Amino acid sequence: MAADKNGCVARFENVGLRYGLGAEVLRDVSLELEQGSFNFLIGSSGAGKSSLLKLMYMALKPTRGMITLFGHEIATAHRKELIGLRRRVGVVFQEFRLLRHLSAFDNVALPLRVAGVKESEIREHVIELLTWVGLKDHLATRPPTLSGGQQQRVAIARAIISRPKLLLADEPTGNVDDRMALRLMHLFEEMNKLGATVVIATHNETLVNRLGHSCMRLDAGQLDFVETPVSGLSGGPANAGGFDAGWGRTDD
Ligand SMILES: Nc1ncnc2c1ncn2[C@@H]1O[C@H](COP(=O)(O)OP(=O)(O)OP(=O)(O)O)[C@@H](O)[C@H]1O
Ligand SMILES: [Mg+2]
Repeated sequence: MAADKNGCVARFENVGLRYGLGAEVLRDVSLELEQGSFNFLIGSSGAGKSSLLKLMYMALKPTRGMITLFGHEIATAHRKELIGLRRRVGVVFQEFRLLRHLSAFDNVALPLRVAGVKESEIREHVIELLTWVGLKDHLATRPPTLSGGQQQRVAIARAIISRPKLLLADEPTGNVDDRMALRLMHLFEEMNKLGATVVIATHNETLVNRLGHSCMRLDAGQLDFVETPVSGLSGGPANAGGFDAGWGRTDD
């Protein structure tokens, strides 16, 4: 099942989260992610964006409240069920989490190898995707010798290669220039058009306003839905540039 009977991929009801004995970092968060929706998640540093995404990809359990993913209530789901749910979620981590000893190619190929896809198909898809993100000359390069922005693009390719139903990206354009940021956003939009529900946590106000998708804002752990254009974010590039190449190819 890709969504519950109401077409909802993820549902949070009065969710609270605290780390250890600390104060709540998320408070009474309620949301519904409609299947096929494209959502930005904004908020200042420390507002709880990564924490909210961690709950969505089941790396954390809420301290209170209820989370339902793909129609399954997480708290009561069996381990096998959780593994099945997790496979439907693609994640671009804020800190990339690439495997250092594997090449860019092998990092991106990994989800397909785990899924048992034929090596000839893997090769074709991985090369195509890494070319799209401008890394065709770095297939054999290992993460430690890639720049931050190049690692970020490998992480994005790895997250989308297996066509997840739910795609979560935590500040996925924080390390690239404006032109590449827009290009990567177009890639997320393409995934969305192919059916993925997308959530992107970002500080990049220019991109949020330019692309004009649904937008949620976290402020001191509380979530609201906001209209675009938004203002008052920090950390984003001042201008996303005039790039409109969609899925076209680029060289690094
Ligand atoms: N593992 C942890 N243990 C304790 N506190 C944590 C942990 N991770 C995050 N926090 C706290 O939770 C709050 C929210 O952090 P979070 O990383 O979710 O914010 P964020 O909105 O993603 O920030 P940024 O924009 O800087 O990435 C912060 O006060 C942070 O210090
Ligand atoms: Mg964060």
